Amino acid sequence: MTTVAKIFETMEYGPAPESDAPALAWLKQHDNARFGHFIGGQWTAPSEEQYFETINPATKAVLARVAQGGKADVDAAVAAANAAAPSWAALSAHARARYLYALAREVQRHSRLLAVLESLDNGKPIRETRDLDIPLVARHFYHHAGWAQLRDSEFPGYEPVGVVGQIIPWNFPLLMVAWKVAPALAAGNTIVLKPAEFTPLTALCFAEIAQAAALPAGVFNVVTGDGSTGKHLVEHPNVHKIAFTGSTEVGRVIRKATAGSGKKLTLELGGKSPFIVFDDADLDSVVEGVVDAIWFNQGQVCCAGSRLLVQEGIADRLTQKLRARMEKLRVGSPLDKAVDMGAIVAPVQLERIRGLVEKGVEEGAKMWQPSWACPTEGYFYPPTLFTDVSPAATIAQVEIFGPVLVSMTFRTPKEAVELANNSPYGLAASVWSENINLALDVAPKLKAGVVWINSTNLFDAAAGFGGYRESGFGREGGREGMYEYLQLPIADFGLRSDRETANPQSAIASPQSLPSIDRTYKLFIGGKQARPDQGYSRKIVGADGRALGEVAEGNRKDIRNAVEAAHAASGWGRGSGHLRAQILYYIAENLATRADEFATRVSRAEVEASIARLFTYAAWADKWDGAVHHTPIRGVTLAMNEPVGVLGLAAPDEAPLLGFLSLVAPAIAVGNTVIVVPSEPHPIAATEFYSVLETSDVPDGVINVVTGAKDTLAKVLAEHDDVDGMWYFGTAAGVKAVELASAANMKRTWTSARARDWLDVRQGEGREFLRHASEVKNIWIPYGE
Ligand code: NAI
Repeated sequence: MTTVAKIFETMEYGPAPESDAPALAWLKQHDNARFGHFIGGQWTAPSEEQYFETINPATKAVLARVAQGGKADVDAAVAAANAAAPSWAALSAHARARYLYALAREVQRHSRLLAVLESLDNGKPIRETRDLDIPLVARHFYHHAGWAQLRDSEFPGYEPVGVVGQIIPWNFPLLMVAWKVAPALAAGNTIVLKPAEFTPLTALCFAEIAQAAALPAGVFNVVTGDGSTGKHLVEHPNVHKIAFTGSTEVGRVIRKATAGSGKKLTLELGGKSPFIVFDDADLDSVVEGVVDAIWFNQGQVCCAGSRLLVQEGIADRLTQKLRARMEKLRVGSPLDKAVDMGAIVAPVQLERIRGLVEKGVEEGAKMWQPSWACPTEGYFYPPTLFTDVSPAATIAQVEIFGPVLVSMTFRTPKEAVELANNSPYGLAASVWSENINLALDVAPKLKAGVVWINSTNLFDAAAGFGGYRESGFGREGGREGMYEYLQLPIADFGLRSDRETANPQSAIASPQSLPSIDRTYKLFIGGKQARPDQGYSRKIVGADGRALGEVAEGNRKDIRNAVEAAHAASGWGRGSGHLRAQILYYIAENLATRADEFATRVSRAEVEASIARLFTYAAWADKWDGAVHHTPIRGVTLAMNEPVGVLGLAAPDEAPLLGFLSLVAPAIAVGNTVIVVPSEPHPIAATEFYSVLETSDVPDGVINVVTGAKDTLAKVLAEHDDVDGMWYFGTAAGVKAVELASAANMKRTWTSARARDWLDVRQGEGREFLRHASEVKNIWIPYGE
């Protein structure tokens, strides 16, 4: 007898193919599917007449031939962008908003062509390009038409960076165009974009859309090619910012290549994001969540939930449910609207996935794939589940970037957090539990830029996206994304020359009031004055050549101890803003009590400004609010300002006390713990300051001070894997050394070789400092039954 259940069991889908004809016709009408670069508002022939093929990974058919950009092409595009920059930047905010709005409209007008083209070039299902990629592209341009309109009122005092080089990957080709281009244009920059070599077609189609929207010539340029083309763009002296999305490996190369160049940089890199399931989660929703987390876009997603962490008691049940669901997934032609998974982008990626899966089996994990076979004509790979995975296994650590899920178990929430954070990456995380208290307790503990509660892979232009640690730095989307394309004018700040800093103007007060020479200042580590590891100290002399005292000569070992102490004090960031405010006020009060004494070290004005600066950040400590974003979900998206973690601070040489406090106070106000290297020639005001700290209830390890050779110590901090961010105010050579060294764990850096007037509140304090002291974590919380 035929039952409904039986029909459901056997029912086959008929094919529901989307036609590729309009997309193929569009390709053909372009010089018979051959593309040059888009420079200065028109199609240009490549300088070297070299082309490469882009293929359809589902059929291996050649779709088009695309120019391989060389140095001359990049030069021409950068020149066009530079030429267009002044007039684009000079347009009114409203005029730029009109252009962005026009781009959004054009994208919508051509949405089906773009969706099909994307599917053909990348291999991803049309269902995803049609319902997700392209609508999000349009949404991004609409949202940023808004930021363009509000730029002057919401970002007063800021100006565009200039020409930005944007290098994007193949997994979300047009969406990455939108994420990069929309904020850059809204802020008033001009662009040279290099799409990924596997998937250049929708970026080229977008160039035509820019033409249709009458975007002025040179504002948006596209140069196609491989990594060597990207390298030319990164190294070009007239590019003022690089925005990159792709592998951590290339991100690291770019960090090194731009070190010391003054180029602004944002990196959106890889991930190995945890998908945490507690035993009270709704398992049927979890299963659908897993499908979206790791089988969406064939798992080629930087924030894919690729590590399934399951509470022990439900692990077997969830595995059974997942296998049953996987058995029903359909892999096939991306243009078939009834498939769940399409093709892997290219043979090299397929080989990488195969290799890592073999490695997983070799290392002893249990591999499971559905019983059905994938199509054989293209580059397909089945959904794959590993169980019995050790947390140290290669497949548990390395980004596979394919439809491969590795599953591990945990017992307690604490263990879940530890396992989740056991990765060099920090991009995204999903938390599944019906207990909202538990989920919201776990979310802030996860080292990730985005946390989804009972959901996964939600994106929106209003919410910032990005990670920390080896997942890169910077955010795309939201207000924080706009700051990545803006800068404060630096005309008022003078460049510090290396010579100037080696022999700086002394800020020392009148000689009569100087203390006697025999003071020897130690380091300040973990709340205690500590002797330096090597037992050396250095003599500090004033402007008049008189000896002022001796300070400890810190070394690598001292920095290591200080970093350890700073980590041990991480509870500081979990405490309340109110408490941090109280302590900052107390520091200010104690400094005020001893103002006369400090005024023998630095000018009276500097002491008074230092007290005021501490007040400023005491004021901010309980007001550095996040936001609730209006994302189009039924729920809320919380943007929380979290501390970066352990910050290394190399203080400026000018204003020895005020410069020192101008970095320390915002950093600790947000909840970071710090290791500070004070001014090298004038460290004594900072070392005298220990005694103020000792009487101000600052918990041990929150502020650690290591005196000595500033650039050497800054480099050690920048290299240190357990330091999460590094600020450096010094020389151009020091900036370069810090940026280079930071590539080791891809920590965030904030560097400047420009001297500020620290007494001027516009230069010396405010939101700019607080922003650098914070990571914005977006927590998505859908609600409803
Ligand atoms: P990739 O990082 O090499 O490529 C990304 C972009 O950077 C492309 O446009 C490429 O042409 C360009 N590029 C390559 N070398 C460059 C250089 N030296 N200077 C400037 N630009 C350069 O990524 P690829 O080779 O496509 O994929 C390799 C692995 O990276 C994947 O298996 C995956 O694990 C990971 N990946 C991660 C992505 C993410 O969004 N997190 C995106 C793409 C890949």
